[in-house]
Amino acid sequence: MNAYIEKKILITGGLGFIGSNLARALVAQGAIVTLVDSLIPQYGGNPFNIEDIRDKVTVNVCDVRDSFAMAYLLQGKDYLFNLAGQTSHMDSMSDPQTDLDINATAQLSILEGCRKANPGIKIVFASTRQLYGKPDYLPVDETHPIRPVDVNGINKLAGEWYHLLYNNVYGIRACALRLTNTYGPCMRVKDARQTFLGIWVRLLLEGKPIKVFGDGLQLRDFNYVDDCVEALLLAGASEQANGKVYNLGSSEVFGLTALAKMMVNLGYGGTYELIPFPPERKAIDIGDYYSDFSLITQDLGWLPKVDLQAGLKRTVAYYQTHHAQYWTE
Ligand SMILES: NC(=O)c1ccc[n+]([C@@H]2O[C@H](COP(=O)([O-])OP(=O)(O)OC[C@H]3O[C@@H](n4cnc5c(N)ncnc54)[C@H](O)[C@@H]3O)[C@@H](O)[C@H]2O)c1
Repeated sequence: MNAYIEKKILITGGLGFIGSNLARALVAQGAIVTLVDSLIPQYGGNPFNIEDIRDKVTVNVCDVRDSFAMAYLLQGKDYLFNLAGQTSHMDSMSDPQTDLDINATAQLSILEGCRKANPGIKIVFASTRQLYGKPDYLPVDETHPIRPVDVNGINKLAGEWYHLLYNNVYGIRACALRLTNTYGPCMRVKDARQTFLGIWVRLLLEGKPIKVFGDGLQLRDFNYVDDCVEALLLAGASEQANGKVYNLGSSEVFGLTALAKMMVNLGYGGTYELIPFPPERKAIDIGDYYSDFSLITQDLGWLPKVDLQAGLKRTVAYYQTHHAQYWTE
């Protein structure tokens, strides 16, 4: 892919998990990369995520809710990878207004900034499978009904549709990827705010039991972060993607107990235990989920390449080396 050589790229959420991995890939492809991140402590941003490329990117610590700063930063950019977000489903229920402000209102003002200052930009938005809610059928394709089960799902849906609207009405090229559970180096592992897999990695390395909620039979699919980054890059480079929504996913589907067993067999020791679902989590749980991602395969040629076992090995090895940068006792 040579679409990004010497192109000016803005990544919102660039110090976070997926944003930092994307930045690394873009730097390797010869892009000129600017990262925007608010570094709000409860969220996934961590300057260590870009330690190895620190001299090769421009970092702007700023909040995407600051429409004046964003309008300035958007000027002259060729691509926007719009990844900043409040990602915790639980936090979206306890503090719905903040979720609305970041995941919907700020998205609209970013798009207004593009319309006024840079309508030629191409945008890729990181959406989520959460907006489908509890699946009616599996695997879930893009035509599945949308029934978010939490505030985060509703606000991400609004954010996604603002992008599609600006594509359709104003011709500002934009598309959205509905990510499934993504994991890998640089994800937040301190707590369960970003993904349960994060806290599982921490518990494993601390020698504490991994806690599996409910009967442990819930099905999920997972993408290693490099595969997710590849999809973002393909979507950015493709004119065919404009105005479209694509599911990401994997054809490897695992129950959560099977996943926990795989983790304790990686060679780092560890155990797991089944515990009752905390009621506040059960209330927003989506049950079994896995994606039909054939549309993005057909349109953009994307297929996940890293299998779960290989991806988990790389992930746990990363945190074994770098855990001090991600949590303190
Ligand atoms: N990781 C997943 O499994 C997954 C699944 C579905 C969707 N997504 C979406 O992908 C995107 C990236 O997620 P991630 O997993 O890298 O999470 P992350 O928390 O690591 O990254 C998000 C980044 O956005 C930053 N941010 C949050 N609010 C901000 C604000 N107001 N201004 C500026 N920066 C702000 C955070 O500091 C963080 O660095 C998010 O939009 C998320 O909704 C992720």
